[in-house]
Amino acid sequence: MYHDKTKSNYRKIIAGVDEKIPNESGKSITAINFDNAATTPPLISVLGEIIDFSKYYSSIHRGTGYKSIFSSKIYEDSRKIVCDFVHCDYRENTVIYVKNATEAINKLSYAFSTIYKDCVVLTTRMEHHSNDLPWRNKFKVDYIDVDDLGKLKIDDLENKLKEYNGKVKLVCVTGASNVTGYKNPIYEIASICHSYNAKILVDGAQLVPHYPIRMKSSRRERCIDFLAFSAHKMYAPFGIGVLIGPKEFFLQAEPDHVGGGTIDIVTDNFVTWADPPDKNEAGTPNIMGVIALTASIKTLKHLGMKDIDKHEMDIYNYALSKLKKIPEVTIYCDTSDDCEKVAILPFNIEGIYHEITAKELSRISGIAVRSGCFCAHPYIRRLLKIPLDEMEHYQKNKDSKRPGMVRLSFSFYNTYSEVDILVKTINKIIKNRSHLQ
Ligand code: ALA
Repeated sequence: MYHDKTKSNYRKIIAGVDEKIPNESGKSITAINFDNAATTPPLISVLGEIIDFSKYYSSIHRGTGYKSIFSSKIYEDSRKIVCDFVHCDYRENTVIYVKNATEAINKLSYAFSTIYKDCVVLTTRMEHHSNDLPWRNKFKVDYIDVDDLGKLKIDDLENKLKEYNGKVKLVCVTGASNVTGYKNPIYEIASICHSYNAKILVDGAQLVPHYPIRMKSSRRERCIDFLAFSAHKMYAPFGIGVLIGPKEFFLQAEPDHVGGGTIDIVTDNFVTWADPPDKNEAGTPNIMGVIALTASIKTLKHLGMKDIDKHEMDIYNYALSKLKKIPEVTIYCDTSDDCEKVAILPFNIEGIYHEITAKELSRISGIAVRSGCFCAHPYIRRLLKIPLDEMEHYQKNKDSKRPGMVRLSFSFYNTYSEVDILVKTINKIIKNRSHLQ
């Protein structure tokens, strides 16, 4: 079924998109999911491959039975499939399986700290907390600033690299923001970083499922050194994520988690680590996660990442054009045609608390969105232009209503008619807003 590439068939390849749920009056309606930046429902191909593989499921790297050898081979071969998907050089890099992008970045931050003792790490003011906090407790961290629209100031990157005069060893930047959807110019950033002898990590959680990415380039200075992403945001929610980086780096670095599977030899008084990626994957590997991820990659490649991006951005632009016409709606991102984005749209309705809007969308029309600060408090504070000291108030008064936004995040299986229902519901909420305070 998923071999049919027509748009009308996008919906047939995802589990649960036509599932009925009860609305406010108990009537059965079709659930609408505009919360794909948080997580995505599974592809039916993913579920199919999980079932098919189950017959052969066995321990990885730990058995001599046929099924164990077969499972181990599938597990190892998958690393090449992942590399190909993100156009990475398999000979030079290693693919490490983790739980999700957050774990990937934590793992990298620890590994980095075992090699670089006294360096500066640059990250940005538009990051998800997962690409900010893991760096704070191990390094001197500085932040590349954003402009009034929340876009990354590339000049500030170059200024900071100059200012730190060779001390910056890593620049950590999101491929696409989970709040505004802005795509960062990662290849240009890579080139700038490399000219100052710094490496680049791209948090690909919001980019990899929606847009083609190339870690390697014919121009070496434009290569991405490290990439992290999560399978649960790419229709394969079986607890797996990916960290990719140079083999040489992981050979040198100390592993964060140690134990089963990570060693070559252990005696009473010494330990020799296995080579990466084994050294970096403590405990029994998640083969079901790998089966899910590779099945998803197969389907996404078949659909074509460029076609996925095109369809998602068509839906986004349709929603944007409708929301722009509603005077009570404030949109928190650059809405110009030439803005490089993935299909994420943050907004608020004047006079209505973000959480109430989100709840009403669900209650009235079964529309799922996320509201709040999306694990990106420093970025949201800037976008909402909230003074820093006001944040102390929210810290001290845990029950006070915190600032935030409502986020729409689209996937290729979303439709124009779902957007029409959204717009109708927003207008209904606005009409009724005096009762919603
Ligand atoms: N990082 C995910 C989000 O933005 C969970 O919702």
